[in-house]
Amino acid sequence: MRARALPGPWWLVRRRQDLPSELDWLSSEEQRHLARLQVEKRRNDWLLGRWTAKSAFLGSPYWAGVDTDLADLTVRQAADGAPEALLRGRPLPLTLSISHRRGWGLCALAPEGMLVGCDLEAVEARSPAFLEDYFTSEEQVALEGLPSVETDRLATLFWAAKESALKALRVGLRADTRRIQTTVTGGLEAVETWRSLAVQDTQSDRRFGGWSRMLGELTLVVVTSPSSGEPVALDNRP
Ligand SMILES: CC(C)(COP(=O)(O)OP(=O)(O)OC[C@H]1O[C@@H](n2cnc3c(N)ncnc32)[C@H](O)[C@@H]1OP(=O)(O)O)[C@@H](O)C(=O)NCCC(=O)NCCS
Repeated sequence: MRARALPGPWWLVRRRQDLPSELDWLSSEEQRHLARLQVEKRRNDWLLGRWTAKSAFLGSPYWAGVDTDLADLTVRQAADGAPEALLRGRPLPLTLSISHRRGWGLCALAPEGMLVGCDLEAVEARSPAFLEDYFTSEEQVALEGLPSVETDRLATLFWAAKESALKALRVGLRADTRRIQTTVTGGLEAVETWRSLAVQDTQSDRRFGGWSRMLGELTLVVVTSPSSGEPVALDNRP
């Protein structure tokens, strides 16, 4: 008998124009952090990440029955850069990952103990030197001989899977991206439905279940370890 897959992680996207004009939904710790961000793009991305993550909590079971408001929730960066969520200073029993690209924010949430990472990437051409430097030889072989539009799409997917897994491992791009090996298991069509991936950290031999889909011109990837079912959309507009 096949083991039942664990329930998938939750995911939500938000657009920059969804951001409220007031900032009263930020906690005092978040207000202090924002005041230190001087570069406008960084401020905008950081705010979009916070808003997307808080909107995701609102739609998730973690928020059900909680009598509080969004300013009681802090989404902070731990010393290693990974995001963590605290409700009135107490860590919530979940893991989360954030990405922002071209005015879109993505957040993935998973139960405590499950590693989760997500990434949003624009499909674009990558040079042969880039592929050689950052991709595994198996990934380079998978890219060979494809029509260029498919090469760009697959290379973007591989890159998003690497970033997602390295975020789930809380190391980010400080690590060698070639330690992450991705295989497309669910088809490569450019569709707005989830397709499965197998992702492995060859350094630790940890395996991730991955999912990818398109969102307009962007590729979305979510990975979890242990692997789990298809990501579940959250939508509960505050
Ligand atoms: C994590 C990293 C891969 C993100 O890449 P990116 O394409 O620039 O940005 P994305 O929008 O996809 O993701 C940004 C989010 O990653 C998350 N993140 C940052 N460092 C992380 C880490 N070590 N582990 C997990 N998640 C991390 C943050 O939540 C961040 O969003 P926030 O700043 O709003 O909180 C990259 O920033 C990184 O490797 N950072 C660590 C090393 C570093 O600082 N290198 C300098 C540049 S190479």
